[in-house]
Amino acid sequence: MFGYVLVTMLELVNSTNALSQQQTSLNQSYKNYFLIGTAINAPQILQKDLKAAAIITNDFNSLTPENIMKSEIIHPKWDEYDFTLADKMVEYAQTHQLKVNGHTLIWHSQLPAFMKYMQSADSVKNFFVNHIETVARRYDGKIFSWDVVNEALEENGTLRKSIFLDKLGPSYISEAFKLAQKASPNAELYYNDYNIEQPKKRAGAIAIIKDLQSKGIRIDGVGIQGHWRYNKIPFKEIEESIIEFSQLGVKVMFTELDLGVLPNPWDSDAADVNMKATYSAKMNPYMNALPDSVQDKFTEGYESLFKLFIKYKDKISRVTFWGVHDGQSWLNGWPIKGRTNYPLLFDRKYQPKEAYFKLIALTNTK
Ligand code: XIL
Repeated sequence: MFGYVLVTMLELVNSTNALSQQQTSLNQSYKNYFLIGTAINAPQILQKDLKAAAIITNDFNSLTPENIMKSEIIHPKWDEYDFTLADKMVEYAQTHQLKVNGHTLIWHSQLPAFMKYMQSADSVKNFFVNHIETVARRYDGKIFSWDVVNEALEENGTLRKSIFLDKLGPSYISEAFKLAQKASPNAELYYNDYNIEQPKKRAGAIAIIKDLQSKGIRIDGVGIQGHWRYNKIPFKEIEESIIEFSQLGVKVMFTELDLGVLPNPWDSDAADVNMKATYSAKMNPYMNALPDSVQDKFTEGYESLFKLFIKYKDKISRVTFWGVHDGQSWLNGWPIKGRTNYPLLFDRKYQPKEAYFKLIALTNTK
């Protein structure tokens, strides 16, 4: 709807109107390659962030709710669901012809309070079945896909010790896919996780996919979250993962892409939402602005990454950014509260960064 006005000096001189406008759009530029998505938050769904709304409809063709379909929000009490925001989002997506990826049915984090201290396996099983059946069925035919299971693996590739593994055993993953398939036959079904580009964790994801396939249970795709650092992007592992996952016959997606620029309090690249560290000025070095040297490397990082994605465009079905603009990014609050991060393609003033234009330019060269 609203484009970004690119006026070069040359155009100014050449143009008979003295002003020439060029409409740019990320999703239009990538339309022959893969879907381009963004995560959206509650204010954006409620149309309280109109600047973001303009970007969403101009640059993205796919939406993932950042939080509002997580069980703590959509299923707040044992026998009570709250679909208010999810319904609004689906309506918004329909109006603007955006594909929705439901995030997420089964995840150990952001669980409803009543689940936290649940002891009985029967109760966990009841929650599990009712939750998937109710939520997946409601949106069948209305949303494009589901992250059926999110983050079921430890870094070493074994199954994560979660309430689901503990109470239901390892078959909970195939059970979740079976139930989702039954409740929402029209949705694509995905496994989603961070760091599954790393060899050990990747092997765990491959084992999950093969296990489902050997049981005749449908899995359509695998989502690599993509919470990376701008100067530590694991290109080799990403490329190997695209190849290995696609060899299993599933679609490959990058589902939560952001390139953080701030120091990491630990030696790990995990994206576990439950990890926390304490604030210090040293850990928040770019409070007022990002130095050009970092900005340039950040642009280069995105460019190299998208070159790789374009190389494998026939295997990649979607690339989703985890937020519209820097001001809303979860990386301002995680793993340390109150920092200023710069991980996305649009800045705090909703302006496209150089990286945005470079990614568009990549699609103009063959
Ligand atoms: C994050 C959201 O962005 C935050 O707003 C929320 O406080 C915590 O969760 N992996 C996922 C996402 O699968 O759901 C997480 O989203 C980021 C890591």
